[in-house]
Amino acid sequence: MRTVDREARPGLLPLLLLLLLAEAGLSAASPPAAPRFNVSLDAAPELRWLPVLRHYDLDLVRAAMAQVIGDRVPKWVHVLIGKVVLELERFLPQPFTGEIRGMCDFLNVSLADCLLVNLAYESSAFCTSIVAQDSRGHIYHGRNLDYPFGNVLRKLTVDVQFLKNGQTLNESENFEAAVGKLAKTPLIADVYYIVGGTSPQEGVVITRNRDGPADIWPLDPLNGAWFRVETNYDHWKPAPKRDDRRTPAIKALNATGQANLSLEALFQVLSVVPVYNNLTIFTTVMSAGSPDKYISRIRNLSRK
Ligand SMILES: *[C@@H]1O[C@H](CO)[C@@H](O)[C@H](O)[C@H]1NC(C)=O
Ligand SMILES: *[C@@H]1O[C@H](CO)[C@@H](O)[C@H](O)[C@H]1NC(C)=O
Ligand SMILES: *[C@@H]1O[C@H](CO)[C@@H](O)[C@H](O)[C@H]1NC(C)=O
Ligand SMILES: *[C@@H]1O[C@H](CO)[C@@H](O)[C@H](O)[C@H]1NC(C)=O
Ligand SMILES: *[C@@H]1O[C@H](CO)[C@@H](O)[C@H](O)[C@H]1NC(C)=O
Ligand SMILES: *[C@@H]1O[C@H](CO)[C@@H](O)[C@H](O)[C@H]1NC(C)=O
Ligand SMILES: *[C@@H]1O[C@H](CO)[C@@H](O)[C@H](O)[C@H]1NC(C)=O
Repeated sequence: MRTVDREARPGLLPLLLLLLLAEAGLSAASPPAAPRFNVSLDAAPELRWLPVLRHYDLDLVRAAMAQVIGDRVPKWVHVLIGKVVLELERFLPQPFTGEIRGMCDFLNVSLADCLLVNLAYESSAFCTSIVAQDSRGHIYHGRNLDYPFGNVLRKLTVDVQFLKNGQTLNESENFEAAVGKLAKTPLIADVYYIVGGTSPQEGVVITRNRDGPADIWPLDPLNGAWFRVETNYDHWKPAPKRDDRRTPAIKALNATGQANLSLEALFQVLSVVPVYNNLTIFTTVMSAGSPDKYISRIRNLSRK
């Protein structure tokens, strides 16, 4: 199993962020885990998300969409999109438009609004991802998602496992094949992929242009590079002073030490301000070698 995430550079998140936390069982000790759902790719795109949506208050979902669109989308764009939505739909790739249309019909929201809310995702996401190897050769991977609209998105966060033929997705033979595929598959946006494998040295940050890789930055633990940190800036350029989450993350990893790395330690690194900040919606820590230890926790700094 490989874990992948995309960081914000301009682009499109091909899934609706329309997903809610059913019970906000807030415990003082540790932040609540995101609820988990399976989504079957064997079901038609229009139908596959409906079992997830059924767990939620649809009025809340519609209100969240209206808030994001009202805040992010200028009125004239909203009107224009309403007029050209059928043409726009033809430009967007399947199966995503089918998935969006299915949820949209279920919610009884216009297709234009559903497409807009997906396109609105990109403009303002900030994230921190880390891939690292401990002294015994175990690979760990963690990330924060930082995004506005936390008041609704904290309730709309879910963990999804995609199933094909009833099995968790698993399309590549091994780490190298997965990295090759991620590096080469054409995209509609520039992204960073942070990938962690199951064996020593299997960790990499791929900086993507839409048509191919711009840079491949692997772990190099034999030469002391036992972690890689990726925020929202190309790693070969300095992080801007106004948003430097990279240096504090590196400091915290240095302070932890390779020998003391664990999923818990990585969670602590991702809890250091400003790596953890008021926009942080969730923190995920995982290790592809131990998929059962995967956990996403909903964060809310301003609650403290
Ligand atoms: C998801 O599917 C897997 C594999 O079939 C199963 O083991 C797991 O219990 C399911 N999880 C949920 C939340 O339904
Ligand atoms: C769906 O939305 C339309 C237009 O807003 C409204 O007229 C209709 O009553 C709604 N249907 C349902 C089932 O809520
Ligand atoms: C994924 O598929 C490969 C073969 O393509 C297989 O060797 C491996 O056991 C599978 N892993 C999981 C977690 O199912
Ligand atoms: C982290 O440690 C490395 C190796 O000792 C050092 O080169 C680097 O300057 C440290 N970085 C920070 C931000 O502390
Ligand atoms: C790692 O943990 C050991 C004890 O388990 C401790 O002695 C050591 O100082 C720690 N290393 C760092 C860099 O904190
Ligand atoms: C988070 O927001 C609160 C309330 O607005 C503010 O007091 C605090 O300084 C912020 N924390 C950080 C780390 O930005
Ligand atoms: C986050 O914390 C703020 C401030 O305490 C609170 O008003 C808000 O309801 C919390 N949001 C969630 C989703 O827990």
